[in-house]
Amino acid sequence: MEAAFWINSWDQGGTATSFHRRDIHPYVQKYATPEFLRGKRVLVPLCGKTNDMMWFREYADHVIGVELVEKAIVQFFSEQALPYEQVEPGRYAADKLTIFNRDFFALEAADVGHIDFIYDRAALVALPFEMRQRYIRKIDTLLPIGGQQLVITLDYAPRMETPPFSITPAEVESYYSPRYSVELVENPLLPEHRMVAKFNLDYLYEPGLLLTRQA
Ligand SMILES: C[S@@+](CC[C@H](N)C(=O)[O-])C[C@H]1O[C@@H](n2cnc3c(N)ncnc32)[C@H](O)[C@@H]1O
Repeated sequence: MEAAFWINSWDQGGTATSFHRRDIHPYVQKYATPEFLRGKRVLVPLCGKTNDMMWFREYADHVIGVELVEKAIVQFFSEQALPYEQVEPGRYAADKLTIFNRDFFALEAADVGHIDFIYDRAALVALPFEMRQRYIRKIDTLLPIGGQQLVITLDYAPRMETPPFSITPAEVESYYSPRYSVELVENPLLPEHRMVAKFNLDYLYEPGLLLTRQA
């Protein structure tokens, strides 16, 4: 989507940012455990103001978020009551957490340094097909061999031509395999998800996939 779409979403708030969850995502708690995160550097592309960054900040060595819309970043620090400083234009820091106010496509490997783990919840699904291909190519430049990703999408019908886009586990596999091993670890049917009633969906699943970058 164009930047204006997301700037407008954050300006409106409310239902326009209903992707934001109040909790720590249960897949994060299950798969990115404190033991798993110990010593790791975590990247959260298209981070919004997700609370999951607080989990990573607590248990990982360092977490780096990347978000296009400054308002989301300011809200994040304010809602978490987390003191921060703007170390340079577009770069916010609070001890083990850094958030870049940047177009993810303009991010370079040198900006983030070594990354062990990428958390993609609602990043792939935020992007239309062409941008998604660019996103995946960028991810490939940032995650070394042995690096892992937790990818969380939505798989629903009928499909909509606006975010969140529907992406099946098989589509995730087609994007990343064989460069990554891909394991579907969660795929619950969620009849109570807010989107089902709102858009009169036939069904909605929330797939969670663990990916490991191969040699
Ligand atoms: C669907 S939201 C998901 C946010 C977060 N991952 C979560 O789970 O709550 C997508 C976010 O990506 C941001 N975004 C969209 N395009 C971007 C880009 N090119 N670079 C960085 N952030 C972007 C939007 O502003 C929005 O906050």
